[in-house]
Amino acid sequence: MALHHRLQRLRRRGLHKSPVLWIILAACLIEVVAHASKYRVPLPARELDTPFYNSCQEPITDGPRENAAIVMLARNEEVHKARRSVESLERRFNQWFKYPIIFLNDEPWRDEFIQTLNASTSGPTSFELIPKQEWSFPAWMDQDDARASIKKQGEQGILYAGKETYHHMCRFFSGYFYQVEALKKYKWYWRLEPDVEFSCSITYDPFVEMARHKKVYGFTISLWEEKRTCPSLFRKVADWKEEQNIPSTSLWKASIDASWVPWPFRSSLSWFSHRDRHGDGWNLCHYWSNFEIADLDFFRGRQYQDLYQKLEKDGGFYYERWGDAAVHSLAVNMLAKPEQVHHFADFGYRHDWYYQCPANAPGGQLPESATLNAVKESWAPEIQGGVGCRCECDGRTNRNHGSYCLHKMKAPNTISRPWSTWFLSWIF
Ligand SMILES: *[C@@H]1O[C@H](CO)[C@@H](O)[C@H](O)[C@H]1NC(C)=O
Repeated sequence: MALHHRLQRLRRRGLHKSPVLWIILAACLIEVVAHASKYRVPLPARELDTPFYNSCQEPITDGPRENAAIVMLARNEEVHKARRSVESLERRFNQWFKYPIIFLNDEPWRDEFIQTLNASTSGPTSFELIPKQEWSFPAWMDQDDARASIKKQGEQGILYAGKETYHHMCRFFSGYFYQVEALKKYKWYWRLEPDVEFSCSITYDPFVEMARHKKVYGFTISLWEEKRTCPSLFRKVADWKEEQNIPSTSLWKASIDASWVPWPFRSSLSWFSHRDRHGDGWNLCHYWSNFEIADLDFFRGRQYQDLYQKLEKDGGFYYERWGDAAVHSLAVNMLAKPEQVHHFADFGYRHDWYYQCPANAPGGQLPESATLNAVKESWAPEIQGGVGCRCECDGRTNRNHGSYCLHKMKAPNTISRPWSTWFLSWIF
């Protein structure tokens, strides 16, 4: 009402005809455009990330290996789901490369699990117990209080947030997995989840290629984080970034949606979730961390450790339901260079109802390869522009959020970015 009256008064005084008003409006517009352009991500002169290979390779079964392990967190009850994942990876990759698989559990392993999973792979296996303090509330936290919050989050219907163990898992995968005794001697890891599927053959050693190309983090699928799981996470991470004077890489800029509110009102937006103290927002895109091939030293490094300690002290792993995917993604986008992040666009991968399925590379299936033919395999037709090796699916359906989220995440790497994504990112 008050605003309405004021506008009427302005109109009576004929202020809308005043050049001053128009000058102020124009200045605001220029200011907003100038601000948003700070987050523009220029396309690089050359591609920063491409698949390591664009077709099947003859697997080098006796080549040099990296210091790497495949890691699966599982529960005893998940024996069949775990076996499906391991068998899929065995058939599509590990029968040739024989990397060790380390199984992690917060409870003692049952014999059935150990026998079944050990028999599912040709690589060495080990079955480890996670230390109690790495799978529980931080020592300083009031557990009753935290449990009450978890109960409330569950009642609000926030995805998985009513489950105490889910919070422990997110904390473990954010702050502790790379410190597990059995993993200490490794530099590289491949995270494998129960109930996933690999639908193309992986005929080269991704660890060797990651090392050769100086990558630190590899993913298959990226998508949006559930908003309500982490209202204050981005703010905490962004505050830490400012405290540490860490410059914004193009990858970081690509994960920001610049605010369209003019100075000096912009910073008042910081009262809302998913915004930094200047009022600019996180677009919620993240790498889906149930698949990860990464350099463990990235997580063990001083900067990630420092960031993790800040997040741990904040309590958001319990008072909200911060996911390890969001934590890893924000850290990677802040601390890694764009060319150090790799999209395994040639991997066929499914988890839950999301999947990535590349098309098969023209002339790239090595139909005469005795090694590859040892497993009876039929594969989908080859398609121009395909990068896959003996993929079961034809690449026409893909439930990876490539149209918006993935392009935005990969903005510095992507030559052909549809104009519509620019348009969308300017509006929202
Ligand atoms: C797995 O099986 C192999 C071959 O049968 C055996 O040598 C090894 O000790 C087993 N490992 C475990 C952890 O049971």
